[in-house]
Amino acid sequence: MAEGNALVSNIGQLVTNDPARDGLLGVITDATVAVSDGHVVWVGSQEDLPGEWAFLPEIDCRGAAVVPGFVDAHTHLAFAGDRADEFGRRLRGESYEEIMAAGGGIQSTVSATRAASASDLLAVTIPRVKRMMRAGTTTVEIKSGYGLNAETELRLLGTIAAIDDTLPIDVVPTFLGAHTVPPGFDGDAYIDHLVTEVLPLCSPHAAFCDVFCDEGVFTVDQARRMLLAGREHGLGARLHANQLAASGGAQLAAELGAISADHLDHIDDTDMVALREAGTVAVLLPGVSFSMQLPQARGNELWDAGVTVALATDCNPGTSNIETMPFVIALACVEMGLSPERAVWSATRGGALALGLEDRGHILPGALGDFAVLAHPSYLHLAYRPDAPPVERVIKRGDLIPG
Ligand code: NIG
Ligand code: FE
Repeated sequence: MAEGNALVSNIGQLVTNDPARDGLLGVITDATVAVSDGHVVWVGSQEDLPGEWAFLPEIDCRGAAVVPGFVDAHTHLAFAGDRADEFGRRLRGESYEEIMAAGGGIQSTVSATRAASASDLLAVTIPRVKRMMRAGTTTVEIKSGYGLNAETELRLLGTIAAIDDTLPIDVVPTFLGAHTVPPGFDGDAYIDHLVTEVLPLCSPHAAFCDVFCDEGVFTVDQARRMLLAGREHGLGARLHANQLAASGGAQLAAELGAISADHLDHIDDTDMVALREAGTVAVLLPGVSFSMQLPQARGNELWDAGVTVALATDCNPGTSNIETMPFVIALACVEMGLSPERAVWSATRGGALALGLEDRGHILPGALGDFAVLAHPSYLHLAYRPDAPPVERVIKRGDLIPG
C-alpha cells in the first residue's frame, strides 16, 4: 500500500488517544499532524510546527475534528445473499435460535455463499468495504465462516486477501471454520474434520482462529480443541463468547490467553476478573443487541473492572447488518451508556489492541497516518448526529482516500 506524506492542518479538535496527554482521549485543540512515508512524525499545536515539516502537501481540515481511523475488529462481511426475510420473522416474534434450528440463520448464508463464485463474492464484498471506509474505518478484521467446507472457506479467505490487495484499507483475516455445525456432522466430528482437513489448508491465509462457542453451537471443549490446533498452525486465538447464554466462552478465552473475547452479553463478575487478569480484550458489538432487540452488554462495568474494551460492527447478514463505526459509537453511547470518550477510544485504540496492532488507533509519532476527518467540530457529533454521515474525509497512511 502507498505510503503518503501530508500535513494535516487546521484541526479544530484532535483526538490523539495519547496517554501522555490529558484525559482518556488526549485531545489537542488547533492541532496539526505531520505524516511522512505513511507514518506520523509530528503532532502538536499549529503554532509549534517545526519548519522541516511545513512543506508537506497540506490537507486543510478547516477547523473540523479529527480522530484516529476506526479499527473494526470483528466483521463477517464476506458473504453472499441477505437475510431480510429472517429479520422480518424476528420482528414478528420468532427467535434467532428457532430460525437457526429450522435450517435458517448461518446455514442459509452458507448455502448462498457456497453457490457464489470468487468473483461474485468479491463483487458483493467490495461495496460493503467501501462504505465502511467512507465512514472512517481504516483497518478491518474479516472472518471466513460462511463456507464450512475447505473449498468455500478457502474461497472466502481468497476474497478477504483480494480486498486487502484492492482497496486502501488494512485487512486482518480470521479463520472461522467453526461458525456452526454443518449438516452431516455432529460437533465433535466437524471439529475433527476442521482440525485435520481444513485448518492446514486455510491457516496460511489467516492471522487468527475464531470459534462460535455458545449454547447450541460449539462447546467449550470443542472450542478449546479448535483454538489450540489453530495455535499450532500459527493462528492467534479469539472467540465468540457468551453471546446467547453463559456458556463458558469468556472463561475459555481467559484460560487460553486469547487476544479477544467477543459479544459477552451473558457474563458475570468472575468472567470480568478473568478477562482482566488474562489481558483479553472485550470486543462489544452494540449493533447486534440493537438489531436483535436485546439488552446491551455491560460495557461500563467492563471498563470499570479494568478490562480493555473494543467496539466493532460485527457486520453480518444475520444479527448486525451494520457497516459503519460512527453508528456503532452512537449505539454504544445512547443504548449501552458509554461516555463518548470511552466509546471513541474503544472504536479506535481498543480495536487496534483487539487485533494486536500497536501502531494504530492513536495519533502520535510512529503511528500509522490513519485519520477520519469529521464533518463537525467535535467527536461528540459522532453520537450526536447519528443519521447523517459524520465523517467527511478519510486519510489512510497519509493519503486521502478518494470519495
Ligand atoms: O457474530 N455469532 C455468530 N456469528 C454472527 C452471526 C452470524 C449470522 O447470523 O449469520 C454474530 O452474531
Ligand atoms: Fe460475530
